[in-house]
Amino acid sequence: MNENNVTTKVNDRSQHGMWSSKMLFVLAAVGSAVGLGNIWKFPYMMAEQGGGAFFLIYLICIALIGFPVMAAEIMVGREGRMSPVNSILKLAREHNRSKSWSLMGWAGVVGGVVILSFYAVIAGWIMFYIWRMFSGEFTGIEAAASGEKLDAFLANPWQILLWFSIFIAIVVFFVARGVNKGLELAIRICMPLLFVLLIVMLIYGVAQGGFMDSVRYMFDFDFSKMTWETPVAAMGHAFFTLSIGMGAIMAYGAYMPREGSVKSAVGIIIVIDTLVAIVAGLAIFSIVFAMNMETTQKVGLLFVTAPTAFGNLPLGAIFGGLFFLFVGFAAFTSGISLTEPAIAYFVEKFKTSRVKIAVAIGVITWVLGLLSVLSFNLLKEFPFNSENWNFFEIFDKATTYFLLPVVGLIIAVFVGWFLPWDRVRKGLEIQSDLAWNIWIVAIRFVAPISILVVFAFSFHEKFIAPFLGG
Ligand code: PFF
Repeated sequence: MNENNVTTKVNDRSQHGMWSSKMLFVLAAVGSAVGLGNIWKFPYMMAEQGGGAFFLIYLICIALIGFPVMAAEIMVGREGRMSPVNSILKLAREHNRSKSWSLMGWAGVVGGVVILSFYAVIAGWIMFYIWRMFSGEFTGIEAAASGEKLDAFLANPWQILLWFSIFIAIVVFFVARGVNKGLELAIRICMPLLFVLLIVMLIYGVAQGGFMDSVRYMFDFDFSKMTWETPVAAMGHAFFTLSIGMGAIMAYGAYMPREGSVKSAVGIIIVIDTLVAIVAGLAIFSIVFAMNMETTQKVGLLFVTAPTAFGNLPLGAIFGGLFFLFVGFAAFTSGISLTEPAIAYFVEKFKTSRVKIAVAIGVITWVLGLLSVLSFNLLKEFPFNSENWNFFEIFDKATTYFLLPVVGLIIAVFVGWFLPWDRVRKGLEIQSDLAWNIWIVAIRFVAPISILVVFAFSFHEKFIAPFLGG
């Protein structure tokens, strides 16, 4: 009996390392969740998809899909204690299920590399803009001149390549050092700074006087701006912003100590991620509206409108620089999590050092990322598809709109329908019957059906309605 306990304890550690505490797991997961999705994508998607209407659907998706799927992912990771591919395989084997379930772990390995390949491009721009803002380049600038600066930067692939490569190198450096000396170190440094900077930005934003306009903008439900894309964009974004549907949170869950329940961790992660998106959005729109500027520019919101607004506000160079620093920290703590499913898997498979694998993954990501680097200049007009999307947009939309929700759907089905309930309940450490009943209904029915409904709606609008004269 005693011996058994000892064996369980020994096996209950991941070979890759463990987070020092439950709180560090939560911080790491928040670090993964809070990123460019919250600060770069969310505000411009709101601007594009009609403000509050998008926001409402996004919140519904977070509650109905995000919560159960994230809990399922963490549970599978913590029960398996290995990379997503092998954790799923372990559970499938134990319960006589097909090995093919582990394919969804593979989707995460590939998805992580693809997402990082375009994510690092924007993270590189952010690094460049930290420097640009602090240098006072935007002080007193006109919007047109600010736009020209961005255009000139984007027209030069070498410059984008430089910053993109620096970001990948920093990520590889930290992940190569392992869970405790690398990932955890990064989290311990960046997360406190990130929260402090967020609060500074909010206070600064409110002080500029555009706050009420920004609240109205974010919470005004104008459904007339909704298109076929809105629901699938909001759902995809819910997956993207929570880092679910590709195993990143599952990989982090594998290093989570067994104290404390998964459910409370998920609650905290989701609330903080959503709050950061709202607060960052309010701060950005506040300064934009204080300058009476438009929110309609797509990528330009963060790289043209925001720098122009900062440049014309008091102490704008310093606060603008701090703002981009904040975004940079957020991007970095997400970037490191994108590689973890792949790194953990290949370390297990090839039984070789983490350093070698990290460098190899970095090189593969870098090579693939070249397509995204060139999407803003040489390969800008790439009429690959009817929508005229370049590689950057194809990678972004294929993962956000499609891969993450599909993998999320499969995870929900696997955990809800193919694993024994007692195992799942024990893994989640849910004591109350009521909470368990809600969760099991959510993972078996609500989440999968919601994902299918959104897909059906968007595909109907996009691919079927036009042929019916709609
Ligand atoms: N959640 C991150 C963001 O909002 O920027 C992006 C992300 C990180 C997506 C990790 C997926 C992932 F696995």
